[in-house]
Amino acid sequence: MMESQKLDVVMGAGSGIGRALIQRWNDAAERPILAVARSASSLAPVDPLASVSTRLCDYSDAALISFSEQLNEQRVDIARLIICNGVLQGEGYRPERALNQLTLSALQQVFEINTFLPMRILGALTSALKQSSAPRIAVLSARVGSIGDNRRGGWYSYRGSKAALNMMLKCAALELYRSNTAAKLMAYHPGTVDTPLSKPFQAGIAQGNLFSPERAAEALDYAVTRFETEGDLAYLDWQGEAIPW
Ligand SMILES: NC(=O)c1ccc[n+]([C@@H]2O[C@H](COP(=O)([O-])OP(=O)(O)OC[C@H]3O[C@@H](n4cnc5c(N)ncnc54)[C@H](OP(=O)(O)O)[C@@H]3O)[C@@H](O)[C@H]2O)c1
Repeated sequence: MMESQKLDVVMGAGSGIGRALIQRWNDAAERPILAVARSASSLAPVDPLASVSTRLCDYSDAALISFSEQLNEQRVDIARLIICNGVLQGEGYRPERALNQLTLSALQQVFEINTFLPMRILGALTSALKQSSAPRIAVLSARVGSIGDNRRGGWYSYRGSKAALNMMLKCAALELYRSNTAAKLMAYHPGTVDTPLSKPFQAGIAQGNLFSPERAAEALDYAVTRFETEGDLAYLDWQGEAIPW
C-alpha cells in the first residue's frame, strides 16, 4: 500500500498570522506545508519557500470539493491544519457600534467569511481528517466571540460570527471524535496582532499588547502542537489559557 504523506495545511495563507506561521514552519523544515489562498498575490511571500507548496482556491463549493479530492487522492495525513480566514471590516462596512448600524449586507459578508467559510473548509476536509493519524486543528476565532467575556458590547457581526463559529466548531469536535479519537480541534484567540485586520483599531492598544505576526506565529505553533482535549472543542488564547464560552 502507498505510504501516506504527512502534511501541514494552512488555509487563508495570505493572512498576516498565516504567512508568519508558514515562514516559521518552513524554517523548522519538519514536514511539507500546503498553503491555500484566494490569490497568487496573497501567496507571493511564501511561494518561493522550500518546504511550501501552494494552491489557489476561490472557496466556492466546487473549489473546495476539488481540493478535498486532491487530498484524498494523495492520501495525505494532515498533521496540523490551521484556518486563518476572517474579516473585521470590508468594503462598505465597519464594525458596528450600535444596533442602528446593522445592515444585512455587512452581517452576511462577515458571517460568510468568519463562520460559514471555516465550517465549509472543515466539511470539505472531513474525510481527509478522519483518515489522518492524529490531526491537530486550530481555527482562528477571537476572544470577542466569548459570550461570557463580553462586557463592552458592539462589534455585532464580528462578535456574533465568532460566537457562532465556536458553536459549530463544538459540533465538529464531537463529530470528528466519533470517527477519529486522535483528532483535536481548537478555537484559538491569537491576541491582538499587527496585521491588516487590526490596523484600523490599534490606536488604544497598550504598548506590549500588540504582537508582531512572528510572535503570534510562535504562540500559535506552540499552542497547536501541544494543546490537549479529548472529543471536545478547546477554546484557548495565545497563552494556552481557556477562554470562557
Ligand atoms: N489580528 C488580530 O488582532 C486578530 C485578533 C483576534 C482574532 N484574529 C483572527 O485571526 C485570523 C487571521 O487574521 P489576521 O489578523 O492574520 O488577518 P489578515 O492578515 O487581515 O488576513 C485575513 C484573512 O482572511 C481571509 N479573507 C479575507 N477576505 C476574504 C474573503 N472575502 N473570502 C475568503 N477569505 C477572506 C484572507 O484569506 P486569503 O489568504 O485567502 O487571502 C486571510 O486569510 C482571523 O480569523 C481573525 O479574525 C485576528
